[in-house]
Amino acid sequence: MPILIRGGTIVTADEQRVADVYAEGETITRIEPTIDPKSLPRATEIIDATGKLIFPGFIDPHVHIHLPFMGTLAADNHDSATRAALAGGTTTVIEMICPSPQDEPAAAFNTWHTLAAASSHCDFTFHQAVVRFDALARAQLRELVATRGVASFKVFLAYKGALDLSDENLLALLELAKELGVIVTAHCENADAVAFMQKRLIDAGHTGTEFHEPSRPECVEADGVHHLATLAELTGAHVYVVHTSCESALQQAREARARGVNLWVEAVVPHLVFDKSAAERSDFEGAKYLMSPPLRAAHNIESLWSAIARREISTIGTDHAPFHFATQKSLGRHAFTAVPNGIGSIQERVDLLYTHGVIAGRIDLCTLVDAASTQAAKLFGLFPRKGTIAVGSDADLVVYDPNFRARFTREGSESALDYSAYEGMERCGRASVVTLRGRIVARDGSFVHDASRAAGGRYLARRPTH
Ligand code: URP
Ligand code: ZN
Ligand code: ZN
Repeated sequence: MPILIRGGTIVTADEQRVADVYAEGETITRIEPTIDPKSLPRATEIIDATGKLIFPGFIDPHVHIHLPFMGTLAADNHDSATRAALAGGTTTVIEMICPSPQDEPAAAFNTWHTLAAASSHCDFTFHQAVVRFDALARAQLRELVATRGVASFKVFLAYKGALDLSDENLLALLELAKELGVIVTAHCENADAVAFMQKRLIDAGHTGTEFHEPSRPECVEADGVHHLATLAELTGAHVYVVHTSCESALQQAREARARGVNLWVEAVVPHLVFDKSAAERSDFEGAKYLMSPPLRAAHNIESLWSAIARREISTIGTDHAPFHFATQKSLGRHAFTAVPNGIGSIQERVDLLYTHGVIAGRIDLCTLVDAASTQAAKLFGLFPRKGTIAVGSDADLVVYDPNFRARFTREGSESALDYSAYEGMERCGRASVVTLRGRIVARDGSFVHDASRAAGGRYLARRPTH
């Protein structure tokens, strides 16, 4: 059914303007100061957006949905995670394919693609994590790029013995990525330093969640960023630092960019709203806030927001990696090193950015759109199909009520997770209507279930753009 959205303020990365938007089929076909409904098919659904904002569908460039990790499997599946994404205004997710070193890359791609295709409600694509790099992996990665629409890799300079690569392999992979025009996203820490610090703390009897941050302090992350930048400089590869948490890591990124390294920076919402005191909460409550890199000293929050406002940080994702408190986080009651790392945020991201960014006066609306949608589309080969509001773009639209006020609750979330890290926190704004390729998929912060059809998410095959 065609859709006309009338009277709202369209917000893109560059401008705000009041206009009507009309979508027929899956794409936006008209954007005009006013569109007379009489000129449209009778079946057109008319949405009154007076007093509301119209954003392009948001893109989350960093989510984990199917995630076997730290001896367990993340709590969401593609059904629950993508319901939650849409309810919060995210219409495209980029999921990390995170296999184990025993898995072949092509088989891992097939596993993740099959799961997502069966039950994803929003559009999706993948960063292919490379956790082994032998001749077979090299050949299969080439093939995935050539034939399966893979255009970004992921590497871990962390999780020693589980997901990390040797420098020799990292260099060879970056060289291949450069040749193929593929951008390499990277979790930057110093895996050996983390392992050393963890052992030292545990041996000294420091087993509580408050020791997670000291086990991987800021210098360890800054070292990881510096290391990645050095290898990118040697190979000429384009790299993207995921979940940057602190000023000292940002400083390494700035210095690398200043000397010409092709490096981009991502922030994720937990680091923008929580400081490390959350992970220090008593009665094991801190486990709800354990992620890596860890939540940091409070001053880093302002550093990150300032860098977003200057557009020095390109994108804001979630690093959605949900583990139940009762049955999964609890695996680490005896030692923080056994707490599965990750925080669920896929539904809350946009409202948190609106509340803590726009309402708090730290960023403007155009920067919100740029960081939470447009830049991800540009960097990862989805623009202008995704990431903007323009004639010819997919009709992924978020009619947003800026005056809505409530509090975050677990009950209000579509995610399967048994707690919300944001429980009771103030929430400004809500997606009133979300469309995915011209179809209404969420209303008033809830997923709209359409029993007459299968999950409507589509795989977005991409071409390398770097
Ligand atoms: O703590 C985190 N970030 N968990 C998910 C895996 C990762 O490192 O991104
Ligand atoms: Zn990571
Ligand atoms: Zn992650």
